[in-house]
Amino acid sequence: MARLNGTLSVGIYSVLVFMTQRLLWPLTSLGETLDQFQRFLASTHRIQNLFDTKPQMVEGQKPLPTPIQGEINLQNVTFSYIAGTPVLKGVSMHIPAGETHAIVGATGSGKSTIIRLLLRFHDPISGQVTLDGLPLTDLSYSALRGAIGFVSQDVFLFHGTVRENIAYGKPDASTEEIEAAARSAEAHEFILALPNGYDTIVGERGQKLSGGQRQRISIARAILRDPAILVLDEATSAVDNETEAAIQRSLAVVTKGRTAVMIAHRLSTIRDADKIWVLENGEIIESGTHDELTSQSGLYAALWRVQTGATSGLIST
Ligand SMILES: Nc1ncnc2c1ncn2[C@@H]1O[C@H](COP(=O)(O)OP(=O)(O)O)[C@@H](O)[C@H]1O
Ligand SMILES: [Mg+2]
Repeated sequence: MARLNGTLSVGIYSVLVFMTQRLLWPLTSLGETLDQFQRFLASTHRIQNLFDTKPQMVEGQKPLPTPIQGEINLQNVTFSYIAGTPVLKGVSMHIPAGETHAIVGATGSGKSTIIRLLLRFHDPISGQVTLDGLPLTDLSYSALRGAIGFVSQDVFLFHGTVRENIAYGKPDASTEEIEAAARSAEAHEFILALPNGYDTIVGERGQKLSGGQRQRISIARAILRDPAILVLDEATSAVDNETEAAIQRSLAVVTKGRTAVMIAHRLSTIRDADKIWVLENGEIIESGTHDELTSQSGLYAALWRVQTGATSGLIST
């Protein structure tokens, strides 16, 4: 027994030391637990906020009438990302089913924005976009996006095999279907030359492949689903001339029998398009076939002269 006379027996002292040691850890970890609990509360709060966010766009319910034709219509479309700075100003475009149309214009003129509206990543502020006569706002996302194959400006490949990357939009595709898509995209040959062919791992973001190879894999991915509409946003911007020629050959094949919308910097890529739309600062300033536009003295003719080296660079692109 401890007495209040300033002495402590050896037994009591040992018990005290023992108890202190036993209690130290629980007390320390209690602090940690409290800390973690606070963090958990903060994170849950943020996740809850995300769940509570209402989508700005309301998905439509309708499917597309089959067979899908692929007729696109933009009627007087105005759009801005930031209020007060319009990116598209009254754009009207009609793309009949089965035709190949091109959009050209300087960087920042709004080309990719037109594509984003077509895929309904945003809604126009005024005007309307229709597909086969139906406003995009009426269509379900699966109907709309299922009808469109999209090769974007920045190709995204996953860490996985070439085969998996091509089949990404159609996981149940057979080997024959995958190879046929790769052939149409002029990718089959180079894939076979890879160390493990279709089973080669492409690396994080496809880093083991060249820009042109990634591009052709993403074209194969887009056409595997056999979409009614094919959209290519600068699919040939980052490739050498030889690869461009290969992609060009593949595009001639894959745009047959479907509507195609192409954005290209190199005008040689799109000279065979049924119609070319020239965009400047969010407005369509010219449209027509390559021959029609080059015979006028507008922006397209000027760009064409620069790109073919017919002037000494007085006009900059
Ligand atoms: N998410 C965004 N937020 C704000 N501004 C954007 C966004 N995306 C594009 N913009 C602006 O919109 C304009 C058109 O961009 P974009 O359609 O990508 O042009 P293009 O494809 O013709 O180069 C540019 O001025 C660009 O800076
Ligand atoms: Mg763009």
